[in-house]
Parts: sequence; C-alpha cells; structure tokens
Amino acid sequence: MVMKVAYVDPVFWKGKKVFLTGHTGFKGGWLSLWLASMGAKVTGYALAPNTMPNLFNVLAIDSLIEKSHIADIRDLAGLQKAMAEAKPDVVIHMAAQPLVRYSYANPVETYATNVMGTVHVLESTRAIDSVRSTVVVTTDKCYENKEWVWGYRENEPMGGYDPYSNSKGCAELVTSAYRQSYFSINDSINKVASARAGNVIGGGDWSGDRLIPDAIKAFEANKPLIIRNPLATRPWQHVLEPLSGYLILAQALYEQGSSFASGWNFGPGDEDNRAVQEVVDLLISGWGETARWEKEGSEQPHEANLLKLDCSKARTQLGWIPKWNLELATKKIVQWQKAHQAKENMQEVSLLQINQYMSS
Ligand SMILES: NC(=O)c1ccc[n+]([C@@H]2O[C@H](COP(=O)([O-])OP(=O)(O)OC[C@H]3O[C@@H](n4cnc5c(N)ncnc54)[C@H](O)[C@@H]3O)[C@@H](O)[C@H]2O)c1
Repeated sequence: MVMKVAYVDPVFWKGKKVFLTGHTGFKGGWLSLWLASMGAKVTGYALAPNTMPNLFNVLAIDSLIEKSHIADIRDLAGLQKAMAEAKPDVVIHMAAQPLVRYSYANPVETYATNVMGTVHVLESTRAIDSVRSTVVVTTDKCYENKEWVWGYRENEPMGGYDPYSNSKGCAELVTSAYRQSYFSINDSINKVASARAGNVIGGGDWSGDRLIPDAIKAFEANKPLIIRNPLATRPWQHVLEPLSGYLILAQALYEQGSSFASGWNFGPGDEDNRAVQEVVDLLISGWGETARWEKEGSEQPHEANLLKLDCSKARTQLGWIPKWNLELATKKIVQWQKAHQAKENMQEVSLLQINQYMSS
C-alpha cells in the first residue's frame, strides 16, 4: 500500500450519493456543507437539533442537501428504509450520544445509540448493494486509557472507563466484527473502516458541557468560564481536520478498496496535545474584551487526564496530515463566532473557512 490519496478531491465527490448520520450536529453541519459545496448528493439521518442556536439552522443545511430524515438510529426499520431509498455510494456514520458526563447520567441511552445505532447502520448497508465505502466515526477515547505519555496506535486494545468512551470502544468492536463477518476483505464491494479523532473544536458548536461552546457562552455573557480540569491534556484539532480525514478515507476505500478497511487515527500534531488551560488562554487572547476563566471547585466524575493519538498510519499510508495548528484553529473559531454575533451570512463565512482549509 502506498501513499496515494492526500487531499479531499472535489472531482471524486461531485455527484456521489452520501448517506450521513448525525447531519444535524456540529461535525455533521460542517460535513454537510463541505459535501454539498463539492456537488455530493447528501441524505442526512439524525434527531432534530437539540440546542438553540444550532449549526443545522444557522447554515440552512436543509436547503443544501437532497433529503433530511429527522429520525432515530435506534429504529432499525426506519433506518433501513431511508438507506434503501437513498441508495448511497458512501455511508458516513457520525450520529451518536457524544458527551462523557451525560453518559454517566444516561448509560442505557448512550449504549443504545452508540452501540446498537452502529449495528443498525452496518446492518442497513448489508441490505443494499450500492454502498462501496463506509466510515464509522468513533473517538480517541475508544482505547484502553493507560494515562501514559505515548500516543495510542490503531492496534492497541479498546477500553473506555465511562459509558461514552466504552460505548465507542464497543462500536469499534462491532465495526470490526461486521467487517470480518459480512464485508470480508475481498468479496464485498462495501469496504468498511473506522475513524478515531481527538477533541474537535470549531465555530458553530453549541453543545452543552464542551469547552469551546462553554467558553463562547461565558465570554458573550461577560462571565468567567468555569473549567473542571485545567491541566487535562487532549489532542485538540479544528473540526475540518478529522472531517478531511473521513473524506480522504472514504475516497481511499471507494477507489482502492480493502487495504484501507481498518481503524484509523486522525489526531493533531504532537505540539497540539495541550492542557485545557492553554487552549482557553489562546481563545481569550483572540477574543479580548473581558474574557477570563476560573477553576471549578467541586468534585467531578472521572475523565481521562492524558490522551494522545499516534497518527503515523494515516500519515504514511493514507497521506493525511494535519494542516491547521491550535493557534490557527482558535483564530478561526473567534472569527466565526464574531461573524455570527455580527449576523453575517454564516454559510459564506463557513465556506470561506472550508476553502481556506482546502487550499492550505
Ligand atoms: N466533538 C468532538 O470533540 C468529538 C470527538 C471525537 C469524536 N466525536 C464523534 O463525532 C461524532 C459527531 O459528534 P458531534 O461533535 O458532531 O456531536 P453532536 O452532538 O453535535 O451531534 C451528534 C449527532 O448525532 C445525532 N444523534 C444522536 N442520537 C441520535 C439517535 N438516537 N438517532 C439519530 N441521530 C442521533 C444528533 O441528532 C446529532 O446530529 C460522534 O460520533 C462523536 O462521538 C466527536
């Protein structure tokens, strides 16, 4: 296997039918816009947005894509019907319950969505013969966390301390079992891979209980940002980074097949594995005004302190490399949020960032 695909290829995506779960979410909004801008025909499948504002409405995603199903991935029959109607060439599965602290309070919902939801998506692709490439999105938290300084490699054991992380480890195992049982390397036209990315940041995330949305909300309200764990280290990356990885991986699966049907890490460069407080300080220096932070006083549920990905495989075999470092990523967030505050055309602002990313 040699490095052949190294960029998101608009020629590949033009006219491709893409079934995207989670299109009403943060990553899903950006990916829907990116795919639509390249001429892909996107069918989205997700629950209604659950924040106000939300990227789905701000970017008017409904008007950009072929069909938007507001529906539940726990409903196998509904998902199968939607996928059979769409007859996609490519499936990108991102719908999930993605929050660690919410998962502590709601483990059953988290496992049902993240584990059985993944089973349902893969099962739905089995029932049709159009799909050539499937990317299942999990997370860096899927690995058994040893709190060590080295990055996790794709062949290390799955784990997960909390229900969210563990449900994503399970989603990885489900993907692997489906690949071996039903999409076995040479005789299936559908090639299936999974993608594990780090902490994703960018404009337009309004989820509760995440660092950047919490920071923007606090800064806009002229209040201090309260941080739970300022020294926790995470692999921070702009949202366009993992999305470019998913797109490049989907292209490689489609065009070059089985040698790419495995798990892939898409994390930032080593220098961007940074402590929460460093990210906040960068954001504060971009935001200016009275932005500031304070440490939360009370005891918090367990979360990993040290988490890093080894992305040698994506770099050497797929030709994917991170392009925007943390300084640039935080600048792009501040630009985006200030443009939103100023009521600019956010489709144009976001497309400009996508184009800047593609040409960088
Ligand atoms: N944001 C991050 O930092 C990050 C990091 C690593 C991995 N991920 C993964 O990336 C994916 C997208 O995350 P995000 O940040 O956009 O989250 P998000 O919360 O903004 O979006 C989640 C999406 O999943 C959909 N969804 C949730 N439950 C569903 C259900 N039962 N049926 C149908 N749709 C459902 C929501 O409607 C939404 O469209 C998730 O799989 C998440 O685990 C995110």
